Amino acid sequence: MAHEHEKEAAARASLKFVKEGQIVGLGTGSTAAFFIQLLGEEVRKGLRIQAIPSSDRSREQAASLRIPLTTFEEHPEIDVTVDGTDEVDEHLRLIKGGGGALLHEKIVASATKQYVIIADSTKRVPVLGKFPLAVEIIKFAQPVVERKIQALGAKVELRCDANGNPFLTDEHNHILDCHFGEIRNPEALARSLSDMPGIVEHGLFIGMADVVLLAKGGQVIELTRRG
Ligand code: 5RP
Repeated sequence: MAHEHEKEAAARASLKFVKEGQIVGLGTGSTAAFFIQLLGEEVRKGLRIQAIPSSDRSREQAASLRIPLTTFEEHPEIDVTVDGTDEVDEHLRLIKGGGGALLHEKIVASATKQYVIIADSTKRVPVLGKFPLAVEIIKFAQPVVERKIQALGAKVELRCDANGNPFLTDEHNHILDCHFGEIRNPEALARSLSDMPGIVEHGLFIGMADVVLLAKGGQVIELTRRG
């Protein structure tokens, strides 16, 4: 709760990236929820956009604010997406998936022209990996995938909900939270995970973020990807 002001400040700073008439991707999580709330206020004041949410949760929030929604069938390309993150390093590589929406978030990001990340100061890290890496898996593959990820050096935990049952994603898959410690070569790890049958998606978002709006105290700094 301590960083709610920073989350809101980063969300507010992201509004300038959203323009009249655009298709807007909606991220998931507590920081993205600030953005959706503020976007709802802009829509109420007259901004005309259509949104594609990255989770059931964000869809419900957007619908409750009367933000017009659309789909990939109608609009396979998104102009701008605003989303949160669990970690960001100096190359704007991200760990996402703390909220369990990584699969839809990555699909939304992949269809987006400008991918804007909003974050409080705790999300900036020198090296990715302190936050467990979420890996969305097909249930059938769990024991196989678990062993293979352990062999890569991680301690692996099946994510559970508040009742102790396996957490289910919007696609009804399971999530393994993988504690790697410092991830020195995120690109190599991303390739290894993408190559494993049974893994639907992983939470390493590399080369995707165009802009990161990082709030610290009363300030929001804008980091952009080079090259
Ligand atoms: C959900 C995510 C979120 O963006 C990430 O977990 C950050 O959440 P929060 O803004 O609540 O800290 O990737 O899958």
